[in-house]
Order: sequence, then C-alpha cells, then structure tokens
Amino acid sequence: MKKLIIAIDGPAGAGKSTVAQILAHRLHYNYIDTGAMYRGIAWKTIKSDVLNDEVAIGNIAQDINIGLHYGDGKTTVFVDGRDVTAEIRTPEVSRIVSEIAQIKSVRDAMLKLQRKMAGCGGVVMDGRDIGTHVLPNADVKIFLTASIKERAERRWRELTEKGFKVNLEELEQEIMARDKNDSEREFAPLIQASDAVLIDTTTLSIQEAVEAITKLCEERK
Ligand code: C5P
Repeated sequence: MKKLIIAIDGPAGAGKSTVAQILAHRLHYNYIDTGAMYRGIAWKTIKSDVLNDEVAIGNIAQDINIGLHYGDGKTTVFVDGRDVTAEIRTPEVSRIVSEIAQIKSVRDAMLKLQRKMAGCGGVVMDGRDIGTHVLPNADVKIFLTASIKERAERRWRELTEKGFKVNLEELEQEIMARDKNDSEREFAPLIQASDAVLIDTTTLSIQEAVEAITKLCEERK
C-alpha cells in the first residue's frame, strides 16, 4: 500500500498536533512536529542569551541537533541530547518563537532538515508552511483552523493543566500576535495552500477531524 505524505498546516492552537499524532498512530506513520523544531531553536537562543543577534541565531539553527522521537502517540523533543519536551512549551518560548521563525537563515536550515526527515513517505508533518513550501508535493494537505476564542481557550486549558498561571485574554492577544507574525512574514508565511482541504475545528471534535482526514487519506491511497 502506498505510504502517504500528509501535511497539516494552520494557526496556533487549531489542534494540529493532537490530530496529527492520532492520525500517525492510526496509520503507523511517523509524526514530525515542525513547530517543536522552531521552539527548540528559540529555547537555545534564550539559553545562549543572543536574542537580538540574527547571525548568532542563524548559527544556532545551522548547528543545532534536534531529535524528535515519536512513539505511543506522543513526541519527545531533544536539543543537543537534552530532553526539552516541557521546556519548549513555556510561555517564555511561545512569546519569542515566531520572531525567531521569521529569520531567513533559520527557515533555510529547517527546510533542509524537514525535507530530509519526511523521507519517502509514511509521515504526518504539521506546521505553518508544510503544504506550501516544505512538502509541496504532499499527497494530502490539510489546513486546520478554529476561531480565535476557541483556540485561546484550548491553550489556556492545556497550560493550566500543566500548572502555568495564565490569563485567557493575554493568551488570546499572544496567539493573535503570533498568527499575525506568521501570516505576514516575508519567507514562507502561514497561508492555506491552494490544494489544501480546509477543516474548521471550532465546532468539530478532534475525533471528527481525524475521521475526515482519514477518509481523505483512503481516497488518495
Ligand atoms: O506549532 P507551534 O505553535 O508549536 O509553532 C511555534 C511557532 O513556530 C509558530 O508560531 C511559528 O512561528 C513557527 N513555525 C513556523 N513554521 C512551521 C512551524 C512552526 O514558522 N512550519
């Protein structure tokens, strides 16, 4: 049976990683969370204290050793051998990651790496520019979205469960700012690919979104 390449893009908090991980688990595919890669660079930028130095950040992206280990429906993220799965999800990293992701040298380094990681199929990759730039020949392209209110509430629940004290309104503002940065940047902005299928999860459950994508995958096999 043909091993598909599945690209899932969309704004922050639309449910991409949850849907992608369930799908990958169901199809016995690999899952690649490209947002985690940009977050890994942002995390290392903070640790290296080079926040305002684009050249230094570009060098970090060039040299960084990012490991994404997907198994049992979840991903563990390593940066230079250290498990940073929790550390890359802090509000501090979320606040700066889209600035880092705008830098051309950072995107070039990640594009190369992500194409290599996708291999020759049997993969679900999610992010912002997968269907448009990274894997333009993907067999299935999804643009997953939801209303800003719904996305902010989901992130609030997720962070609160992890023990972070966050304000819902501030979170909504931060997500809107990140979406704006991601959509308006010069290189590989967040945009729905012309051949992507739009799925709105505002009123759709995660399971319903997974079913819709599974159906599309069966049609493309
Ligand atoms: O998916 P997640 O919210 O973890 O992504 C964090 C940030 O990484 C995004 O807001 C975006 O700035 C950047 N990103 C990107 N291109 C991707 C994936 C993520 O620019 N393919």
